[in-house]
Amino acid sequence: MNNITNITVVCPGSFDPVTVGHLDIIRRASQMFSKVIVLVSINRSKKPSFTVEERVAMLKKVTEDIPNVEVDSYDGLLADYTKKVGAKAIIKGLRAMSDFEYEFQMALTNKKLNPNAETMFFSSSAENMYLSSSMVKLIASMGGDVTDFIPKTILNSVVERLKRKDG
Ligand code: PNS
Repeated sequence: MNNITNITVVCPGSFDPVTVGHLDIIRRASQMFSKVIVLVSINRSKKPSFTVEERVAMLKKVTEDIPNVEVDSYDGLLADYTKKVGAKAIIKGLRAMSDFEYEFQMALTNKKLNPNAETMFFSSSAENMYLSSSMVKLIASMGGDVTDFIPKTILNSVVERLKRKDG
């Protein structure tokens, strides 16, 4: 594998829950960089359905076949975490232009707080452009089929867990 030697990057997100869109970005990053830390971080404007521990466990399960991926969680500033682990970049997936303004604001803020970490945007794969964790939760909570949106290894537990939450 020709990934860039000795470069650690962080893929942060709420991952509530992880979708095939997230996993695609994580996999692509793992093919470019020597170490990818998938970080469950806290988005204070969202009320999560899954606990941090559940989200970490799901991410560990879906990335267990990717040797250079680690999963962690952090309840603090992303910029402080990137400093702590010496990450050279923050990797984010961009679905549509509507993501851009918010993501660009976060990228500039994170660059100000830690000038040593660049934010890099990976374009979502065409088939995942419309996909979001909140859409998946909405579909599952109304009994819809989310088979194509959630990685196979965690599909049943995610569906059961979302049912339990509503019941
Ligand atoms: O998947 P999301 O909810 O779009 O991810 C957003 C997330 C969690 C990456 C962002 O809210 C974040 O970085 N939170 C950590 C706290 C922080 O550093 N906030 C300031 C960002 S400029």
